[in-house]
Amino acid sequence: MVYEMTDTALIEMQKLSKSFHHRGRLLEVLKGVDLTIHAGDRVAIMGPSGAGKSTLLQVMGTLDVPSDGKLLFDGEDIFARKPTQLAKFRNESVGFVFQFHHLLPEFTAIENVMMPGLIGRSRRSEAEQRAIELLETVGLGERLHHQPGELSGGEQQRVAIARALFMKPRLLLADEPTGNLDLSTGAEIHGLLRELNRTTGITVVVVTHDPRLAEEMDIQLLMKDGLIVPRIPGDERIGDRIPADLQTETEGSLAEESDSALRA
Ligand SMILES: Nc1ncnc2c1ncn2[C@@H]1O[C@H](COP(=O)(O)OP(=O)(O)OP(=O)(O)O)[C@@H](O)[C@H]1O
Ligand SMILES: [Mg+2]
Repeated sequence: MVYEMTDTALIEMQKLSKSFHHRGRLLEVLKGVDLTIHAGDRVAIMGPSGAGKSTLLQVMGTLDVPSDGKLLFDGEDIFARKPTQLAKFRNESVGFVFQFHHLLPEFTAIENVMMPGLIGRSRRSEAEQRAIELLETVGLGERLHHQPGELSGGEQQRVAIARALFMKPRLLLADEPTGNLDLSTGAEIHGLLRELNRTTGITVVVVTHDPRLAEEMDIQLLMKDGLIVPRIPGDERIGDRIPADLQTETEGSLAEESDSALRA
């Protein structure tokens, strides 16, 4: 089944800000972000290092609390929930994938994928069945009993994606899921995210430093200095392409980063 994009706002950020107290100083990282993401959207977030992309994703996934402003999820002011209800929401509705897969090294692919189910008290046999199906979906039907150390980087990231999907979340958040992979393996992972979106209708938000990968998502957002930057000043619509000059800038910062990483 192929799902169509809908007009329902899944996520609405309203003047959302996040500051950290750091060594006696207040560091403003998100500076009043207004952003709407619709159910079924495929969104790429780009921008220079330190712009606040990871912080934005953490707050979007309710792993971190905003300092001010609101996050509406399906119209609900989600941070108004009690902590246990918020944790329940996060467990059921949001899947996370990070640059480093955070798989448990002592466990097999199946066990890693079914872990959220075991924590959520699913029946073991059912959880196992679902894990197998998910691993087949991400193309790892032949690697069910491999431990992370016995898998390639791309395969490890596929396991992490399968694990993120275990609870059938509505939202999949990926923070540089291909940052640790070569370009063609990275492209495969993005292809997988796109395919999952197409077949299940899951909303996908991915942070990436690679403009070519960002181009594969339907919507490209650019973050600079704690804000989503519109294409034309004053134009707050999303869904616009990243302007060429800013793309170059992003690629430039990527080059600088790789350069300093190589030196380190
Ligand atoms: N817990 C924290 N305490 C203090 N400062 C923080 C904290 N988390 C993030 N920051 C600061 O917030 C800024 C934005 O960080 P963030 O990780 O969101 O950037 P980013 O856009 O994801 O960058 P990158 O592309 O390098 O991953 C950085 O300057 C960082 O030092
Ligand atoms: Mg980051």
